[in-house]
Amino acid sequence: MVEGSNDMDRSLFSRVDEYIKERVGNEDEILREVKESCRRSSMPHAEVSSNQGKFLQILARSCGARRILELGTLVGFSTIWLARALDADGQLITVEFDAGNHALALENLRKAGLAHIVEARHGKALEVLHDLIASNCPPFDFIFIDADKPPYLDYLRLVLRLSRPGTLIVLDNVIRNGAVLDPDSRDERVLGVQRLNDALKDLPEADFTILPTVGDKEFDGMAIGIVRLRKAP
Ligand code: DHB
Ligand code: MG
Repeated sequence: MVEGSNDMDRSLFSRVDEYIKERVGNEDEILREVKESCRRSSMPHAEVSSNQGKFLQILARSCGARRILELGTLVGFSTIWLARALDADGQLITVEFDAGNHALALENLRKAGLAHIVEARHGKALEVLHDLIASNCPPFDFIFIDADKPPYLDYLRLVLRLSRPGTLIVLDNVIRNGAVLDPDSRDERVLGVQRLNDALKDLPEADFTILPTVGDKEFDGMAIGIVRLRKAP
């Protein structure tokens, strides 16, 4: 079994996270309120940390994103960070399965003044992805996957069909406090991200790295990839 990080580390990581946030966090009243509202969601501590939100926003801005796709809205905290990377004519589609979370997200996005550029869908991510593919929707520039973990590899395979060369794809929670090292894990969430991580090695469509993350949340990691130029047939 893998040892988890000890309590001293966790408190140090949290304090360093706070230190960073005080300097470059740019969290306004709306984001503070929305973070508070996460406590009323079905997964009260699963939202990205504030510094991770800013990190995602910078990634989206650095690739000049005009169209963003998010799987796993929760109550819209990461959605707001990402939507703020867009110009007024940009579009963000986000998908949430839990009805209560979706309702909270709609309220939060309205409060944040982002309802006009965010289309928050309520439903199963797999179904929404199939619908988007069937409707020939234009490719996304930036894709953030933070939904349920068991189908992570299915999500990746489908979003690749909604991408173009250069699209950035980020998947949250792919290290899980180091539990991915355990070859005997029976945790479906761990098994889901292990299948994903193993597939990244020889993925022809995109080039990935995994960035370990520490801070407010448990020791985890984000897989970050860029879709390759397609080879000529
Ligand atoms: C879990 C899910 C998340 O997206 C996250 O960031 C942290 C934890 C979870 O399934 O426990
Ligand atoms: Mg997450």
